[in-house]
Amino acid sequence: MYYPDEIIDEVRSRNDIVDIISGYVQLKKRGNNYVGLCPFHNEKTGSFSVNQNGQFYHCFGCGKGGNVITFVREYENYSFVEAVKFLADKAGIKLPEVEYSEEMKQKASRKQQLMEINKEAAKYFYYQLRSNPGKLGLDYFRKRELDDETMKNFGLGYSLQYTDDLYKYLRSKDYSDKILIDSGLFNFNERYGMSDRFINRVMFPITDINHKVIAFGGRVLGAGEPKYLNSPETDIFSKSNNLYALDKARMSRKDQIILCEGYMDVIAMHKAGFTQAAASLGTAFTSGHAVLIRRYTKNVLLAYDSDGAGVKAALRNIGILREAGLGCKVINLEPYKDPDEFIKNLGAEEFQKRIDEAENGFMFEVRKAKEQYNLQDPDELTRYHNEVAKKLLVFSEDMERDNYLDAVCRTFSIPKDSMKKLVYKHSQNIVTTDAASSPVVLRSGTKKMTAEDGIKKSQRLLLTYLIEDNSLYNKVKEYISVDDFVDELYKKVAGLMFQGLENNNLNPAAIIDSFEDVEEQRCVAEIFNTKLEAIETEEESEKALKDVVIAVKSGSIAYYTGAPNKDITIVNQLLKSKKELEILKTKAKL
Ligand code: UTP
Ligand code: MN
Repeated sequence: MYYPDEIIDEVRSRNDIVDIISGYVQLKKRGNNYVGLCPFHNEKTGSFSVNQNGQFYHCFGCGKGGNVITFVREYENYSFVEAVKFLADKAGIKLPEVEYSEEMKQKASRKQQLMEINKEAAKYFYYQLRSNPGKLGLDYFRKRELDDETMKNFGLGYSLQYTDDLYKYLRSKDYSDKILIDSGLFNFNERYGMSDRFINRVMFPITDINHKVIAFGGRVLGAGEPKYLNSPETDIFSKSNNLYALDKARMSRKDQIILCEGYMDVIAMHKAGFTQAAASLGTAFTSGHAVLIRRYTKNVLLAYDSDGAGVKAALRNIGILREAGLGCKVINLEPYKDPDEFIKNLGAEEFQKRIDEAENGFMFEVRKAKEQYNLQDPDELTRYHNEVAKKLLVFSEDMERDNYLDAVCRTFSIPKDSMKKLVYKHSQNIVTTDAASSPVVLRSGTKKMTAEDGIKKSQRLLLTYLIEDNSLYNKVKEYISVDDFVDELYKKVAGLMFQGLENNNLNPAAIIDSFEDVEEQRCVAEIFNTKLEAIETEEESEKALKDVVIAVKSGSIAYYTGAPNKDITIVNQLLKSKKELEILKTKAKL
């Protein structure tokens, strides 16, 4: 790590986790913890809990967790060092200047190296666009009416016609083949070795929410397949969790995001002053995207192509946005195909008008449904009314549903009383048929719980008990030692916890920091925050603790019994443990 532990400790302890997370997530106090909607996955009821005593957070829904530094890393997509700087700044702590020695650079995380490689590549492409051979690319952009300022703003570039010039350039900067392959910028082939992925294309750098380049899209200059080639998924780039230009759109202060289909649409809109535009990257819009947008605004406008595919995508995404609790409107681009064409032909003022007139997403859905029916035919009219009634059931709040029912009936001239009855009828169907199979997906439900999972769960429960009530340690330590935790990570956590409990200075957030990897930190937070069953009386609580201790001890006995080549001390220890366990089982409490 770059900074001494004392500095990290100070940064962590001077940034209260509840204060910091409250800046991003609305938290409510519940019991000893704070609870809110998880910013890392899509949910409607809060599974995200922040423990102020322990200074850690953990989500029961998606499993993310860690301490305040982990949170900032995950939320802002910062490296460890960036997160520490950010928090030090907030707390007014002056960090020591650190020299980056060769060794430290080596140790820089893989992700950080991948970020550096993408940044180097972006600079390289940018430079090439302005070089002599890059004139091909420059001409292309000029033909598409992009000015220098726009090209600069989006960091646009060009990849040369050679098959390995970027590769040679990055090799000259001492990156290994291994990490270069992982960057997604190259193709590797046993016979021909490494070659550039992007050849003779105009290049669009894709940035994360902090303006850091994490991937690229490259367009062919003329006709050719594929029209756009994108970076593959890498450790720093996931298509379903990033949107093109969201870093710019979130700064636009317009309290809305315009979603469109592609690179050129985004650029055309920004150029015309609509800097709130962003796009999903040649991939379907996902609930991950919706969660990301929800951090910045609740108002989404769709500016998808006006062709069949665009309408289909809009219909699909309205549902996803609604699920995530976002309001959604649809911009009508007729008679033009996409925002790029629209603005080129009618200009920014007209586009602003279309934004102001954008149609409510639900009304758009109903209007599109209506187009599927011949309303002169009584049968089809009935089916249309039934479809509308069913659609209205997506609104679970009575008031909201009534408002939509009013609006729909008014706009589409549907008799209100009959519609009300129809909605009621369909709601009865839902209650009787759908309720039993409600589509709740549990994370752990995807895989069967094995015996090992069961033992680990007991271990987590035990450690959570100790976090919640440190005074239990004196009883627990009579039966349980660090060696009862077999898994490396669990053993390390238990070791640090027992040490803290022994010295009366247990600090969960500090324990989390002794793991570098965000994934490991997440596991540690889970260990600290395993759900305790609803326990009402003291008697129940003592019994539950006893059961957990028995489960942990039995698990460890079973493990050591099964281990090959046991030496004499282990055998003796086992016999002793078994005897203790038998006695414990007969006791009413620990
Ligand atoms: P379009 O084909 O509509 O491209 O794809 P466009 O944005 O209008 O681009 P121009 O104006 O023809 O240059 C929309 C988006 O879908 C993704 C890209 O993100 C593109 O901007 N896409 C499209 C791909 O990823 N690969 C492709 O081959 C085509
Ligand atoms: Mn298009």
